[in-house]
Amino acid sequence: MATQAHLEPAGTLASRLIATRKLTLDLAAPLSDADATIQPFPDASPAKWHLAHTTWFFETFVLRDHVLGYRAFDERYAFLFNSYYEAEGPRHARPRRGMLSRPSLDEVRDYRAFVDEALERALPGLPPALIELVELGINHEQQHQELFLTDMLATLAENPIEPAYGELPAAACCAIESLSWHRGREGIVEIGASDGGFAFDAERPRHRMFLPRHEIAARRVTNREWRDFIDDGGYKRPALWLSDGWAWMQEQGIAAPLYWHGDGTEFTLGGRREIDWAAAVAHVSHYEADAFARWAGARLPTEAEWEDFASSSDPALGNQLDEAGPVVPSAGGGMFGDVWEWTQSAFTQYPGFAPAEGAVGEYNGKFMSGQIVLKGASCATPRGHSRASYRNFFPPAARWQFTGVRLARDA
Ligand SMILES: [Fe+2]
Repeated sequence: MATQAHLEPAGTLASRLIATRKLTLDLAAPLSDADATIQPFPDASPAKWHLAHTTWFFETFVLRDHVLGYRAFDERYAFLFNSYYEAEGPRHARPRRGMLSRPSLDEVRDYRAFVDEALERALPGLPPALIELVELGINHEQQHQELFLTDMLATLAENPIEPAYGELPAAACCAIESLSWHRGREGIVEIGASDGGFAFDAERPRHRMFLPRHEIAARRVTNREWRDFIDDGGYKRPALWLSDGWAWMQEQGIAAPLYWHGDGTEFTLGGRREIDWAAAVAHVSHYEADAFARWAGARLPTEAEWEDFASSSDPALGNQLDEAGPVVPSAGGGMFGDVWEWTQSAFTQYPGFAPAEGAVGEYNGKFMSGQIVLKGASCATPRGHSRASYRNFFPPAARWQFTGVRLARDA
């Protein structure tokens, strides 16, 4: 994964497009066609599908719609690689993405090269209004780079011989053992992305929120604290759990974070390793995060509390791209890195929300039901993809992403 350090988030649109497209290919470099074809479960996608779908996104919304005379690489790919855009017509069933032995990984690479060439040719002549679409395509591909890694982790974890994806950097240094608390701001604050600079539609408009007196933990919950929770019967005490969470846990037989084994080891992209007890806990669901917080005599932060703290404690992070990302995890205490942090906030529309126009209006808005907001970034988030206003979201039972916990409490 060392190649990711070369990605330069600044620079022209063209250079960022090329770097982003190249990073996806680099991520796939260690994979065989078979590695890239497996779909470990219906919500995860094969690596090959991520490579092709991100390409389809550019081909469809930029080249097909706006470049005169563009001819699709293969007309059949629209059916295979449309993810969820109803406006783009019928598509291959999501749970069956792992059934596609063809096109091969090499054919998908050819598809990427074809579209990249057309994009690079078209870019200088694109009207300013289309720049936003290219920007969206870059950010979309970055999201899929993270999904690529989390889906590969799930894929390799299925294999009893436990193959490693590659060497990873050492876990974040979490020397900060005792938990301290920051006083959050009380009163009316502004959250959401301001105008100017890229943000997804769901991050806008910027608006006012009232924050009660509260405190927010200075660091994320560690593996050691999670082990204490388990040892204290955390997964066996219904009073700690939301009803849906308790039912989910019973049904799924959940008793520890996703990739933990009972012997003090965990499966990672680098293979099976001893659990680093001082590192941030990862791969827990919202249900587990919520139960842990209750056990700890605290609660999960709201997205407004989280965002206001992140941007007011370091104003440079307000709406700016930061340096969070793979290769250089944060030191455990920062707001960006290691793991995404579950909030207690449902992913719903901000006051005055307007989805983007056209098919890409389906990007976020239609998922505003049954999803919980996560803030921050993870060790798998590409550099330059993070900001305080960012709203990641997953259903409360999801835990194959790099998801962890930061506590908050009333004060
Ligand atoms: Fe997508």
